Amino acid sequence: MDSHLILKIIHMTFGSLALISFLIRAALLFRAPQNQPAKAGRIVLVALQHLSFTVLVLTGMVLLYQNQFVVQPWFYGKIILFVVILSATIKAFGKRDMSLAQRKAGAFVAAIAFAGLLTLVVLKPDFSGNVASQQNAQSVAVVPQIQPIQQNQLTAMTVIQSATH
Ligand code: HEM
Repeated sequence: MDSHLILKIIHMTFGSLALISFLIRAALLFRAPQNQPAKAGRIVLVALQHLSFTVLVLTGMVLLYQNQFVVQPWFYGKIILFVVILSATIKAFGKRDMSLAQRKAGAFVAAIAFAGLLTLVVLKPDFSGNVASQQNAQSVAVVPQIQPIQQNQLTAMTVIQSATH
C-alpha cells in the first residue's frame, strides 16, 4: 500500500473518531447536562477529541503536501467549516464559564458544520465554474444514448444509398 493511501485511511479513521467523540459529548450535554460523566470518562472523551483533531490536521497537511497543494474550490469550504467546528466545540465543551444555553448553541453550530463538511467531502461539488469540465461530465452521460441513434442512422443511410445506386 502506498503512503498516500495509508495516510488517507488514518485521516478518515480519525475523522470518524472526531465525529463519534463529538456526538457522545453533545448527546450528554443535551440529554443529561447535570449528570456529566465521571472524571476518568471525561478525560478519555477529551483526549480522544484532542487527539483526533490533531491527527486530522497533521495528516491533512501531509496529504496536501503530497498533492502539491493542488486543491478543488470546495476544499476551502472544508477548511472554513473545520475552523467553525473547532471554535464551536470549544464554546460547547470548553472550560470557560458558559450558560447551558450557550453550550447547547455551540454544540448545535458544530453539528451543522460537521454535517456540511461531510457533505462536501462526499459530494465534492464542482464550484470552479469551469464550463468545459461540466460539459465533459454531461457529454459522458449523453454519449451512450447518442451512439445507438447514430448507428441506426448510418444503417438507414447505407440502405438508402445501395437502393439508389
Ligand atoms: C473533521 C475534519 C475532517 C474530516 C471529517 C475529513 C475527512 C476527509 C475524508 C473522508 C477524506 C477522503 C475524501 C476522499 O478522497 O473521498 C479527506 C481527504 C482529505 N483531507 Fe480531510 N477531513 C477533515 C479535516 C481536514 C483538514 C483540517 C485538512 C487539512 C489540513 C484535511 C485535508 C485533506 C486532504 C488534503 C485530503 C485529500 C486526500 C486526497 O484525496 O489526496 N482534512 N478528508
